[in-house]
Amino acid sequence: MEKLKITGSRVLSGSVITSGAKNAALPILAATILTEGRTRLFNVPGVVDMITMRKILQNLGVEAKEVEGRRDAVEINIDSLTSLEAPYDLVRKMRASVSVLGPMLAKYGRARVSMPGGCAIGERPIDMHLAAFSKMGAKIEMNHGYVEASAKRLRGAEVCLDYPTVGGTENTICAAVLADGVTVIDNAAREPEIADLAAFLNKAGAKIEGAGTSRIEIEGVASLSGVDYTIMPDRIEAGTYAIVGALCGGEVVVQNCNPGHLTVLLEKLAEAGCYVSATDNSITVRGCKRPRPVNIATHPYPGFPTDLQAQWMALMAFTEGTSIVREAVFERRFMHVPELRRMGAEIRVDGDTAAVTGVERLVGAPVMATDIRASASLFLAGLAAKNTTIISRIYHLRRGYERIEEKLKGLGAAVETVDD
Ligand code: EPU
Repeated sequence: MEKLKITGSRVLSGSVITSGAKNAALPILAATILTEGRTRLFNVPGVVDMITMRKILQNLGVEAKEVEGRRDAVEINIDSLTSLEAPYDLVRKMRASVSVLGPMLAKYGRARVSMPGGCAIGERPIDMHLAAFSKMGAKIEMNHGYVEASAKRLRGAEVCLDYPTVGGTENTICAAVLADGVTVIDNAAREPEIADLAAFLNKAGAKIEGAGTSRIEIEGVASLSGVDYTIMPDRIEAGTYAIVGALCGGEVVVQNCNPGHLTVLLEKLAEAGCYVSATDNSITVRGCKRPRPVNIATHPYPGFPTDLQAQWMALMAFTEGTSIVREAVFERRFMHVPELRRMGAEIRVDGDTAAVTGVERLVGAPVMATDIRASASLFLAGLAAKNTTIISRIYHLRRGYERIEEKLKGLGAAVETVDD
């Protein structure tokens, strides 16, 4: 099995280009089910999760192929769809597969999707997605591990989410765009990826207002047409590289990103003592010798993103003092902690809170990745640590970071893939 070998303690500098956002591209690819004819998506990240979503569409009979000569572009032709089922074998690989449920139900009146199980970072139920569909008139049944949803035509409804779930907001928007009447989603997630999904759907003919705020109004329309659409930049990838600058800079310039999506992270980096500056589409970060300890608590957007918590902890492992990291979105998102400890980090966990006491040096060790962001955290720790770090199970990293070794080598990192 492929592993990553990192020789740490190098000063990294230069520029790195951000890819398209995985967490926008996934629901948008699923939402193409709502359209008619051909759609082309650009700035699609070359990550394994996108391949899985393409397989889900292909399994429905949909044509989903790379645009010739453009490895960041996908062309989808929905008219060849023949099936309305997302099978267990694909859904178990990626929970975001559940985002085909709303689009299939809205357009074809039924859908059968394997129920996603728990995952490394938490239970992650989909009760709020299903409650919203029920409110819109769908019949929901559980059968042999599958969710079976049906409705002749969904009708607009008032949906108040118990929690601003990202996937639940996206699935409800998709269900509502072809429904009969107006749907209002209150306590909606405000993540930029929601606004990107809505921008795509509006370009295709939907009538969605308020995406990016906690109240979204959707007036159902009869049909959506195929369009060309460019996916937003990946704020979590950009944030990960900004933290690389803080840990190992030198001066790292993260290009093709939207700094406005990372306000809290940039404030926290400055608080830690790093030099941070931003233009409309780039971020420059220079590290300092030892960062200052800075507390964070993860929250839905615009709070500190849970998807950057593990990477932030790698930075805090090097501070002069103790910082508190609280994970308030997922219940098990500290899987990187025992691995960071194997490299010499001093971290105590109590429930949803970790106290990180910085040390002068971490020392490379064999470590194991458990999810996408935990892998990134270990990668970052390895870049800053003394000696060599070997990370196994890097298929997690491949799910969410496009060409990460190549990008970091461009900054001067010593990293290579090795086989068992
Ligand atoms: N939740 C429920 N019931 C639901 C839905 C969610 O209890 O019906 C709970 C979850 O268990 C969790 C919390 O609500 O504790 C937040 O979950 P949310 O639905 O917001 O997350 P998601 O849609 O499953 C997306 C991203 C995650 C990211 C979270 C939070 C995609 C494909 N995934 O997941 O990204 O961490 O939002 O921002 O968009 C990653 O990229 O590594 C990743 C895990």
